[in-house]
Amino acid sequence: MDTYAIGDLSVHRIGFGAMQLPGRGVMGPPRDRAEELAVLRRAIELGVDHIDTAQYYGPDVSNELIRAALHPYPDTLVLVTKVGSLRDAEGAWLPAQRPAQLREAVEDNLRSLGVERLGAVNLRLMDHPAADPAQRVPLEDQLGELAALRAEGKLAGIGISTASSAQVEAADDLVGIACVQNAFSLLDRSDADVLELCHQRGIAYVPYFPLGSAFPHTPKVTEDETVRAVATRHGVTPAQVGLAWLLGHRENILLIPGTSRVVHLEENLRAADVALTAADLAELAATQA
Ligand SMILES: NC(=O)c1ccc[n+]([C@@H]2O[C@H](COP(=O)([O-])OP(=O)(O)OC[C@H]3O[C@@H](n4cnc5c(N)ncnc54)[C@H](OP(=O)(O)O)[C@@H]3O)[C@@H](O)[C@H]2O)c1
Repeated sequence: MDTYAIGDLSVHRIGFGAMQLPGRGVMGPPRDRAEELAVLRRAIELGVDHIDTAQYYGPDVSNELIRAALHPYPDTLVLVTKVGSLRDAEGAWLPAQRPAQLREAVEDNLRSLGVERLGAVNLRLMDHPAADPAQRVPLEDQLGELAALRAEGKLAGIGISTASSAQVEAADDLVGIACVQNAFSLLDRSDADVLELCHQRGIAYVPYFPLGSAFPHTPKVTEDETVRAVATRHGVTPAQVGLAWLLGHRENILLIPGTSRVVHLEENLRAADVALTAADLAELAATQA
C-alpha cells in the first residue's frame, strides 16, 4: 500500500478511526468489547500503522481499548489524537480550548494510551463560536501551547481539525502543520479548497466522515445509487468504491474509516485494490449530496 507522511512520520494510506469503538453516540462501553479488541488487533495484522483517536471518545473508552488491545505498540504505529473538546454526561460536545485544557488533554491521552509521545495532536476547533467567552481563545494561543508541548517532546506533529483554509494557512505559517482533519467524502466535497491548500503545501489531509459517518443526519456513501452501481460492476462493496475514490483523488489523502466490525475493517483495507476506471470516475463525479 502507498504511503504519505504526517509531518516526519510515513504511514500507509489506509489507517483506522477509533470513533466507532465506544457505545452508541460515541458514549459508554462498546457494544461488544471482544469484537472491538479484535478490530484493533486485526488492523495491525493487516498493516495499519495509523490510528486516529480522542480521549473524549467514550469518553475514555477508545483509548482504553487501544491500549488493552495493542500495548506494547509496534514501533511503526503512529497514534494521532485530538484535543479541544469535552463531553458532558449527556454526550454533548463542549469546547475545551483554553491552553491549560489543551495541555491537560494531551497529558490525559499520553497517560491513557501509555506512550511518552503522540504521533500528532489535532487542535479540534469548534464548529460554532463558543457561548462562553473564556472558550474564545485566539488561534495563536492554542497553537502556542501545542508548540510548547511539541518542544517538550510530548507530540511529534501538530494538526488542525474543522478548519477553514484561512485557519490552516495561518496555523501552518505559525507552527508548521503536519495534518488536517476535516469532513470530506465522495458525497461531500465542500472542503475541496482546504484539500487543495494541503496538497500544495505537502500536508496530510485526513478526511473524517469518509463514508458519511454513523450519525443519522449525514448522507451515506454506501447508500448512494451511483456508488452502488459502480460497486456491482467491479464486484466490490460500495464502501470500497467510496474509499478507493478518495485514495485516487489526491495523493495526500490518508484514510481513517471508522468501524466497530472486523468484517468492515477487512473490507475497508481492501479498498486499495479497487482500480476505478475513467468511466467510473466520470459517473462518480456527479455524486454530490
Ligand atoms: N476531527 C474530527 O472532528 C472528527 C470527527 C469525526 C470523526 N473523526 C475521525 O474520523 C474517523 C472516521 O469518521 P467516522 O467513523 O465518524 O465515520 P465514517 O468512517 O465515515 O463512517 C463510519 C460508519 O460507517 C460504517 N462502516 C464502516 N465501514 C463500513 C463498510 N465497509 N460497510 C458499511 N458500513 C461501514 C460504520 O459502521 P460499522 O461500525 O457497523 O462498521 C459507521 O456507521 C472516526 O472514526 C474518527 O477517528 C474525526
